[in-house]
Amino acid sequence: MGARKPLIAGNWKMFGRNADLAEIGALAETTGPAAAKIEVLICPPAVLIAPAAWQARGKSILIGGQDCSPSAADAARTGEISAAMLADAGARYVIVGHSERRQNHKETDDLVRQKAEAAIAAGLTPIVCVGETQAERAAGQVAEVVGRQVKASAPGQGGAFVVAYEPVWAIGGNSTPTLAEIGEVHALIRETLAGQFGAQANETRILYGGSVGPKNAGEIFTVPGVDGALVGRASLKASDFSAIILGHPAAV
Ligand code: 13P
Repeated sequence: MGARKPLIAGNWKMFGRNADLAEIGALAETTGPAAAKIEVLICPPAVLIAPAAWQARGKSILIGGQDCSPSAADAARTGEISAAMLADAGARYVIVGHSERRQNHKETDDLVRQKAEAAIAAGLTPIVCVGETQAERAAGQVAEVVGRQVKASAPGQGGAFVVAYEPVWAIGGNSTPTLAEIGEVHALIRETLAGQFGAQANETRILYGGSVGPKNAGEIFTVPGVDGALVGRASLKASDFSAIILGHPAAV
């Protein structure tokens, strides 16, 4: 088994305009030398994927989508974007099952799994998001909830996918689990994957997401089993995001 190459991904969510694509060039300039050791990914809104991929051509930054249709084939699905279309626009990855989609769009584990499978069929690497709510953590249900989400949302055919552990309550605020708690959940996720996919589970990268910024990223990256981060707000500006990337132990 080769060592897992860290992946640090930025999820721009519903932020960004064409003018913000300049951040990609700036990011490539500062983080380029670390690219051999760390994969850097930006997932802009869908309408910016093609120009972002153009902006990133020949540079060390990869581009991804934030969601895709569960339908692998072209279909009469108004408003949806297939994984094949994302790939055609220049994406290499796609986030599926982000908690904002699970909550706001009532996405189920089964739908998330279908999306992950459609992504793999289109040659993309899905980043499958899981994570408990505040109430679930308070009720001591973290292992149960995250274990269930991993089992039911991971693509059935296995293969290349990434898991992002994003506790819902840690997103968009200032609080994160303790380093020990992050380590516990990452270990639980890898154990769950091993039950499903055997030795292949050692190759799956597991990212942490939720209030990662330049101040706390370095210590989070030292937690065993953390293979990178999925970053929201702090990925919008190249200065913040590059500080996170250059703070990874592999960057030096
Ligand atoms: P923040 O980094 O803004 O907390 O968002 C995390 C997230 O949801 C990334 O997908």
